[in-house]
Amino acid sequence: IRCQTTSTDEPRTKRNLLDNASNLLTNLLSGGSLGSMPIAEGAVTDLFDKPFFFSLYDWFLEHGAVYKLAFGPKAFVVVSDPIVARHILRENAFLYDKGILADILEPIMGKGLIPADLDTWKQRRRVIAPGFHSLYLEAMTQVFTKCSERTIQKFEKIAEGTKEHGERKIELDLEAEFSNLALDIIGLGVFNYDFGSVTKESPVIKAVYGTLFEAEHRSTFYIPYWKVPLASWIVPRQRKFRKNLKVINDCLDGLIKNAKETRQETDVEKLQQRDYLNLNDASLLRFLVDMRGADVDDRQLRDDLMTMLIAGHETTAAVLTWAVFLLAQNPSKMRKAQVEIDSVLGHKEPTFESLKKLEYIRLIVVEALRLYPQPPLLIRRALKSDRLPGGYKGDKNGYAIPAGTDIFVSVYNLHRSPYFWDRPSDFEPERFLSQRKSEEIEGWAGFDPSRSPGALYPNEIISDFAFLPFGGGPRKCVGDQFALMESTVALAMLLQKFDVELKGSADSVELVTGATIHTKNGLWCKLRKRSDQPQI
Ligand code: HEM
Repeated sequence: IRCQTTSTDEPRTKRNLLDNASNLLTNLLSGGSLGSMPIAEGAVTDLFDKPFFFSLYDWFLEHGAVYKLAFGPKAFVVVSDPIVARHILRENAFLYDKGILADILEPIMGKGLIPADLDTWKQRRRVIAPGFHSLYLEAMTQVFTKCSERTIQKFEKIAEGTKEHGERKIELDLEAEFSNLALDIIGLGVFNYDFGSVTKESPVIKAVYGTLFEAEHRSTFYIPYWKVPLASWIVPRQRKFRKNLKVINDCLDGLIKNAKETRQETDVEKLQQRDYLNLNDASLLRFLVDMRGADVDDRQLRDDLMTMLIAGHETTAAVLTWAVFLLAQNPSKMRKAQVEIDSVLGHKEPTFESLKKLEYIRLIVVEALRLYPQPPLLIRRALKSDRLPGGYKGDKNGYAIPAGTDIFVSVYNLHRSPYFWDRPSDFEPERFLSQRKSEEIEGWAGFDPSRSPGALYPNEIISDFAFLPFGGGPRKCVGDQFALMESTVALAMLLQKFDVELKGSADSVELVTGATIHTKNGLWCKLRKRSDQPQI
């Protein structure tokens, strides 16, 4: 139980009152002994002053890699240790569910993979994961280049009209542009629907953004007032949310109906023969309907598609946003990336094969994911009591946790842990070429690329859970390779044509977070058409 004293003559500001109320509640209600687990001296105001994961990082440095955070009536265990993360996500994965995350996402995603109960998840994961095989990814490379090309052409068109001192230079919010690009890609890749959001607005696009906005609001709002009966009819923003959801659901229902009605044996044969490049529609929906039979429940299919639309859109847009933010502050690394692009691609578009040669661009993408993981926290709830193993610091015997314990696995802390990374806050894509060994840390196997032979991108297996941008274990992201390849293509095509600078200072780019880490007011950049590309 924590205690915080306040001097009697200190002005009773709103902040003090909030802190004291929080402390009192914590003392009364946090209960549930977690043995000798350190307790963070948090306060409710920590939730509002800066992004939540910043505070979790400060407490990690102060209290160690497993600590209890108590505020209000709730207590959470915060994990920043790869051995404990591995235990929760992989070794004992089925002892945990998604807890509060499932509560928040269930109204949007229904029984989609992220919030699904264990039985539904087992059944659907078996059906969906095989859809992301390498031939599908190869076919998707064309979708990535087509959509990225559309974005680049848009920029070039704007640049044509704004010639300044002989230079073609434009100012754009790249975060918004990446969001449109990622939406177009996920629409085409998952259900062969062209949102066309790079060039236009539509009611469906507005509904998607409205729904994402509400999901974010719910993930950061303290009291789940939307669960109050009739709230969705009375509260204006909840009414709007219901309407947006209906627009998307109607669109998805139409696509599912169409996919079932146009199921053709010739396409099924092509799929069975893995003749992906000759398919008119290589989308995941086509795969799910053609290969898995047309009798799959429409409602379940809709939940699956909605889940992938939400899970695969803002996450990828955020990776591109932070990759550019980091590169713009490191012009020599941007130059190095462009030298690689020029030598591998010249003036051509990336292909599935050429992606393998764009090593530096791939490392930039993973380094952006290390520094800005999306989401910064993985959320779990213990279904039964469990014993967390001892980590590299603190209590070596580990901690017993009761059933119902809510856990945050802080990916942000793991990715910036001074115990696993040299100069953890620096942008250093080259770091993945040589990383820490395991000698000093008991129970942690260290970084070893031979554990994941042939992997194009570093992952949680290579790093033994010190680097887990897509989670790990059975609930690991199904779209990881899709997202990594998509980001590599888009970044390569942008840098092939443009030099990028931040419009203001890096400090003026404020971070906010919900499900993903994004900027408060956009990533405003100056783009200059490159004049130094090699001539063919
Ligand atoms: C799960 C990250 C792109 C579909 C996850 C998880 C993470 C993640 C960390 C695990 C969540 C947990 O354990 O609680 C990302 C990032 C992406 C990305 C950083 C982009 C850079 C995508 C894409 C798709 C997708 C493109 C689909 C096309 C999913 C699904 C799950 C998931 C369906 C749930 C898997 C399950 O529970 O079985 N993602 N994701 N994600 N992701 Fe992704």
